[in-house]
Amino acid sequence: MNKMMSFALAAVTMLCGFAAVAQQPAPAAPVAVPAPIPFAAANLTPLGVRSLAANCAACHGTNGNSAGGAIPGLAGMNKEYFLNQLKAFKEGKREATVMHQIAKGYSDAEMAALGDYFSAQKK
Ligand code: HEC
Repeated sequence: MNKMMSFALAAVTMLCGFAAVAQQPAPAAPVAVPAPIPFAAANLTPLGVRSLAANCAACHGTNGNSAGGAIPGLAGMNKEYFLNQLKAFKEGKREATVMHQIAKGYSDAEMAALGDYFSAQKK
């Protein structure tokens, strides 16, 4: 092999090498974004409503019987009054320290079920 040929061979080898480097792997397919997790449907069975009502117990007491007078009790509350208050909290029509936020977390159906539950509790 003469000098010229070995130079040409080296050049071809180099070019092929560059070509291999220049040929980037195809961009990875976009990562599939999982579908958002749907909210669970409201559980309005008697047990489900008890669980909902348990969210209120920390402040309004077990079964709506609050200890002391700082936070109003919910047990035996008139259902219509109860629903009107929650609606007013949710819509920002009744001023509140916490209930305007809490009320936003409940649908009309959940509030109605809570109203049935608390109005039926003994004071
Ligand atoms: C972090 C404490 C807290 C939790 C939890 C809470 N409440 Fe209240 N609730 C209050 C306070 C305090 C008030 C008085 C209004 C205010 O300042 O927000 C109130 C007022 C109310 C009133 C009006 C009572 C009246 O006599 O006019 C209703 C109805 C009510 N809450 C329902 C609920 C229900 C139903 C839940 C559960 C889904 C709940 N609350 C959870 C603290 C709480």
